[in-house]
Amino acid sequence: MRSPLIHIAELTHTFDDGKTGIKEINLDIFPGEFIILAGRNGSGKTTLIRHLNGLLHPSSGRIRVNGKPVSSHLLETRKTIGMVFQDPDTQIVADTVFDETAFGLENLKTDRNTLDRIVTQVLTRLDLIHLKDRNPATLSGGEKRRLAIAGILVMEPAVIVFDEPFSNLDYPGTLSVLAAIKNLHRSGQTIIIAAHDVEPIICEATRMIIMTDGQISLDDSPMAILCRLESFGIKAPCAVKMGKPPQPWLD
Ligand SMILES: Nc1ncnc2c1ncn2[C@@H]1O[C@H](COP(=O)(O)OP(=O)(O)OP(=O)(O)O)[C@@H](O)[C@H]1O
Ligand SMILES: [Mg+2]
Repeated sequence: MRSPLIHIAELTHTFDDGKTGIKEINLDIFPGEFIILAGRNGSGKTTLIRHLNGLLHPSSGRIRVNGKPVSSHLLETRKTIGMVFQDPDTQIVADTVFDETAFGLENLKTDRNTLDRIVTQVLTRLDLIHLKDRNPATLSGGEKRRLAIAGILVMEPAVIVFDEPFSNLDYPGTLSVLAAIKNLHRSGQTIIIAAHDVEPIICEATRMIIMTDGQISLDDSPMAILCRLESFGIKAPCAVKMGKPPQPWLD
């Protein structure tokens, strides 16, 4: 049997105020999957994904990445799993798009030639190279979100986790981020997306996990879950409401 890239067993997180964020989650994630983690507000999506790279620690239960416990292998885990947060502004640290993208490599003391090569490659791939000298604060929402992906991508993580990657983006911004995510998956990256609006990505995903009140209530192929989405508080794609199959947003 294939071994999972991420193995989660009986994972529970209770916050300091006694509120349960997630409860007894069991989940195996395999290389190459494209997973939508869906669920209404407060269902525990962010709490769960923050455990994937050790930003939150379990109150009980286990989480392993490549067979190694996250808590005792934090650096290794964070090289394997990159996380793109919901608000890209909070992640910006540098004055130019180039330097912002290079930040993680600079911390690793990567030599200048290698750094220039990797950053240029990644910025080209995310269609940001023409903006390399711009101040990140002046970018559009979609460009900022792609910049956040670029900063993660230079570290060559096997898994990229997105928390609500389309929030506050208009249609072109959503398409530009969607194109970037699709390309990452095509090139072999494992993708996990926490979202309550699943329409842009439902045709791309290989698996959909629905959370309710901190627990997994469904885990199946997106097509198998389609007709039941609204009973879990998730808006069904427009086509599905009209009795048709969902349409991909991009070719
Ligand atoms: N730091 C915290 N302290 C106490 N409770 C928290 C904390 N963070 C989250 N919670 C609670 O844990 C539950 C799960 O929250 P979480 O942010 O994981 O949900 P979510 O599915 O990501 O929601 P959203 O769709 O709004 O982003 C909620 O009831 C929330 O109020
Ligand atoms: Mg959230």
